[in-house]
Amino acid sequence: MKRILVTGATGQIGSELVPVLRDKYGRDNVVAAGHRRKPEDAFVDSGPYESIETTDAKSISALVKKYRIDTIYHLAALLSAKAEEDPQLAWNINMNGLQTVLEVARYHHCTLFFPSSIGVFGPSTPKDNTPQVTIQRPNTLYGITKLAGELLCDYYVKKYDMDIRGVRFPGLISYKTLPGGGTTDYAVEIFYAAVKHEPYRCFLKEGTRLDMMYMPDAVRAVVELMEADARSLRHRNAYNITAMSFAPEQLYASIKKELPHFSMTYEVDPIRQEIAESWPHKMDDSAARAEWGWQPEYTMESMTKDMIEQLRKEAPHVT
Ligand code: SER
Repeated sequence: MKRILVTGATGQIGSELVPVLRDKYGRDNVVAAGHRRKPEDAFVDSGPYESIETTDAKSISALVKKYRIDTIYHLAALLSAKAEEDPQLAWNINMNGLQTVLEVARYHHCTLFFPSSIGVFGPSTPKDNTPQVTIQRPNTLYGITKLAGELLCDYYVKKYDMDIRGVRFPGLISYKTLPGGGTTDYAVEIFYAAVKHEPYRCFLKEGTRLDMMYMPDAVRAVVELMEADARSLRHRNAYNITAMSFAPEQLYASIKKELPHFSMTYEVDPIRQEIAESWPHKMDDSAARAEWGWQPEYTMESMTKDMIEQLRKEAPHVT
């Protein structure tokens, strides 16, 4: 049985990945770790939780020893818009944090999962059917750290013969935990406004088309990649994966079909608009499909229906 450590466990991905891993591998075999001293009740009740600093090698190493960890999902990172607010902090958490975890993983012979992002691409990258291997000249601090992270992971695979795997996530849409300061966050916020019958002010311009994915697909991608036969993996760090591609007005129309009174206006944030315009419209995920059988399930329409249903369940007073 695997013994797993998840860093960034209380974040947008972690809060949904941890329960799935606990179901699959056993609650006590999955240690959730985050920077908060006290986690939400969901984590306390469902298995071990530890508070960590991702740049503190000693304490992470001690945790790995204490729980006899053999696999680390290193999710702790600052997202794109937050990283532009504090590039030095973003470098420390995203880069020094990854290097610390890589060293701990190397020392303790752990397998590692590293989430990369559409942020690794830049203005000179082809925007449609963005190839798996192509020009990568990101101009955001977030993108720079994710790209360097991909390369560093591949370096550790080659140099130290480690098993490290990653995906390039598109914008992730989910209803459990809000993303913390990303450029694609509008696609989550819009649903919270819609179910509360509030108008939404979108911070990206009409026509800003980006890759997106519903969280159940994202979590399944991580689990399937980590379960895949290592011999079939050529690209490793990191695979393009996508599920849907839309601009704000298309998502708005899809929500309006379910909630006809919903309304949206635009109030563009120049910083996030510039970031979004440097990213792909739609990645080519054929390497992931060929090498480990990646296949998304949710379309924009089925995701929209499910998001609204789930958010109504979470807040039953909202009809
Ligand atoms: N969703 C992320 C962001 O917007 C991209 O990986 O920063």
